[in-house]
Parts: sequence; structure tokens; C-alpha cells
Amino acid sequence: MPRALIERTEAFVREQLGAGDVGHDWYHVDRVRRTAVMIGAAEGADLAMVELAALLHDVADWKFHGGDEFAGSRVASEWLQSQDASPSVIEQVAQIIDLVSFKGAGVETRPATLEGQVVQDADRLDAIGAIGVARAFAYGGHKGRLLYDPLTPPTPHDSFAAYKSSSGPTINHFYEKLLLLKDRLHTATARQIATSRHRYMEEFLAQFYREWNGEDYRPVCG
Ligand code: ADP
Ligand code: NI
Repeated sequence: MPRALIERTEAFVREQLGAGDVGHDWYHVDRVRRTAVMIGAAEGADLAMVELAALLHDVADWKFHGGDEFAGSRVASEWLQSQDASPSVIEQVAQIIDLVSFKGAGVETRPATLEGQVVQDADRLDAIGAIGVARAFAYGGHKGRLLYDPLTPPTPHDSFAAYKSSSGPTINHFYEKLLLLKDRLHTATARQIATSRHRYMEEFLAQFYREWNGEDYRPVCG
């Protein structure tokens, strides 16, 4: 695959994302691309395919395209066709993009190829840890959601339709997606990176509840 195709794709994606929607700005794509190439190198994947698919993985998100689940692979395929990429490259990238996104706790989205697994792992690593916390609250704020509501428990979604239509408080998203991700990674390299990011989210939640319940106040006695 020519390096020039990857460079032109980078310019195309930057232009498409512009200032970006919430959670999917160019810097998200760039982090996922760099993490994916790093994981791919450790795992022996086809790095050109990994980089190309990572660059295109969020080019059109269903959340901002009228719920169309396949908008991303369609836009990516059209772009690659316009660049005379081979049909097999277009097919592989489209397949990776269709499966990359989380679609609910009970929905299976395991990519068939190592390259797909690497891109999905990199995307998921960017949804956890400190950046994951920041992205979740940015998304919730954009949607006007509550931070937390003790009266609205999280729901494990067993269909993409149910996951898509959920509108619970942002803390619920941790239980519905973010805390589940570390056990759904495919590569040993990603699992290693996930360990400290996962722990950081657990500490964040513990501290959040301590503050919510006023348990971080210790009266000074005597
Ligand atoms: P990804 O780019 O990992 O596929 P998504 O497209 O599902 O992630 O979402 C983009 C970002 O917004 C992620 O960090 C994700 O966790 C966050 N997000 C998605 N849905 C919600 C939600 N209902 N509440 C809070 N954050 C959300
Ligand atoms: Ni993404």
C-alpha cells in the first residue's frame, strides 16, 4: 500500500472532522492511530492496513448521521475508491470500521482479522482512563445529561437499538460500557495498557461517590 495513500487519507480525515464532534475530534483519531500502530507493531499486524483503518474509523459516526450504522464504512469506501485503492484494501477497511464501535454490553463485535482487533483495541483504550472519563463527561454535557442520578440504575444493553436510544446519566455509561472494555480487548499489548487506565476509572468512581455522599469530611475531634 503506498505511503502517499495514508498521507492523503490523513489530510482527508482532518478536513472531514474539522473542529470535530464531541469525542471524535482529530486528536482522538490521531491518538487511536498512534496507539494502533504501536500495538500492531508488537502483535505483528499489517501496519499500513492498521494505520489506514484507524485514520478512517470515525470518519462518519452513526451517532451524528441519523443513527445510520454503516455511514462510516460507506464514506471511507467512497474516499478509498476515489483514490484508486484496491478492492481488497477497501473491503478490509470497510469491515474493520463496521465492527469497531461498541454497540451495547450484550452485542458481539469481534473483528475477524488481527488488524481489526488492533484498531478496535486502540479505539477502546481511548475510551477508558483519564481521557475516557473526560470524553464521557464531554459527551454527556453535549447531550444535556445528568452527571449521576442514584435513582436511575445502569442497564446492560443487549441490542444496539437499546444502547443507541439510552439517555441515562453519564456515570451509568461507566457500567454500561467503560468498565467492561478491559475484558473485551483482543491483544495482550492492549490488555497491559488497559490495566492502569481501568484502575484509574475505579478510583475516580470511588472518589466521586465519597464526595457525593459527603464521606470525605472528617470532623476534627478534641
Ligand atoms: P468510540 O470512538 O470509542 O467508538 P463512541 O463513538 O461510542 O466511542 O463514543 C465516543 C466517546 O463518547 C467515547 O469516549 C464514549 O465512551 C463516549 N460516549 C458514548 N456514549 C456515551 C454516553 N451515553 N454517555 C457518556 N459518554 C458516551
Ligand atoms: Ni473512535
